[in-house]
Amino acid sequence: MKLAVLAGDGIGPEVTAQALRVLDALRLPRLTIWHGDVGGAGYRRHGHPLPPETLEMAKAADAVLFGAVGDPDCDALERRLRPEQAILGLRRELGLFANLRPARMFDGLEDLSALRPEIARRIDLLIVRELNGDVYFGEKGMRRTADGRREGWDAMSYAEDEVRRIARTGFAAAASRKGRLTSVDKANVLETSQLWRDVMVETAAEFPEIALDHLYVDNAAMQLVKDPGQFDVIVTGNLFGDILSDQASMCVGSIGLLPSAALGERQTEHGIFGLYEPIHGSAPDIAGQGGANPLAAILSAAMMLRHSFGREDDAARVEQAVARTLASGIRGYDLGGQAGTLAIGDAVLANL
Ligand code: NAD
Ligand code: IPM
Ligand code: MN
Repeated sequence: MKLAVLAGDGIGPEVTAQALRVLDALRLPRLTIWHGDVGGAGYRRHGHPLPPETLEMAKAADAVLFGAVGDPDCDALERRLRPEQAILGLRRELGLFANLRPARMFDGLEDLSALRPEIARRIDLLIVRELNGDVYFGEKGMRRTADGRREGWDAMSYAEDEVRRIARTGFAAAASRKGRLTSVDKANVLETSQLWRDVMVETAAEFPEIALDHLYVDNAAMQLVKDPGQFDVIVTGNLFGDILSDQASMCVGSIGLLPSAALGERQTEHGIFGLYEPIHGSAPDIAGQGGANPLAAILSAAMMLRHSFGREDDAARVEQAVARTLASGIRGYDLGGQAGTLAIGDAVLANL
């Protein structure tokens, strides 16, 4: 098993280090670990946020464990050189179109949700976010209008095959869970979304056992705080999924808790090739202080064990160790507690 570790910027390396301690403790046989530069770190060392050698390393691996990219010092660079292009480039170049972002309430955290505990208690949902299209990857630019005003523009589009493959991921995920799929779009305004909805309905015929419904994204954002327990699987586009997943994180207590898996179609020896990362970013406001919550990174490693390394038992062990850590009262600063990054890592290892 070949693992490419791309820790990146800010708290990326801090939280990834804890995930690596957990992997180390599992003593996985035949695991080779490579480290590559990405993001602002990639730009500083190689002049590019996604240096060619890093991309080659990722391609040669069975899985990528990703930290975070983003650096305020790089925000004025031309867009193609900004740190965020590293993660966008990896998703695109590696064909990782399906982003699984699970959010569930851990025992003991009910009172720490941004929602009332009786509302938060029932959360157990999965956001299936499309990751290779939408307004993220359309043409974009800055131009002048005829009367000389500056105008920024970004083209939003989805082709039917792009929608169909993520629809199938969503239906299949629902089939392995509670059998309910909610497709989120803005079909009342956007043609992109009308096609999205049409293809969702067409694809439903392949999955007669799944209950499909549709929400407009504004209503979905509202329902997510009104009654998040109503959701099983949510399937949505790149932009809406980005926003709703950060929102879902606060419903379960903190963005420091939500892992993700970005999957494509390439099979590896033990599973499917994937890139695994917390949903949060480089958090420059807390970087370097040892206070970031590493649980999202650790849970991302668990998803990697499950999907790419075919080690369901180890994945479940790691998830149980995280659940026990939280149940025992260990809380990061993000959850109003006193435990720093290292202390949380220590507690997970002890529970493991
Ligand atoms: P962010 O997710 O980095 O941080 C948002 C807030 O949440 C901050 O207050 C931060 O301190 C807090 N936070 C995030 N992760 C935490 C953790 N593990 N423990 C405790 N607190 C945590 O979002 P942002 O501030 O909007 O973006 C910062 C940079 O990260 C930007 O450059 C952005 O583009 C980038 N970003 C990268 C990724 C990625 O690499 N996949 C994801 C999101 C944002
Ligand atoms: C995420 C991030 C990225 C996204 C950024 C950094 C490009 O917010 O992974 O959620 O928008 O997809
Ligand atoms: Mn995001």
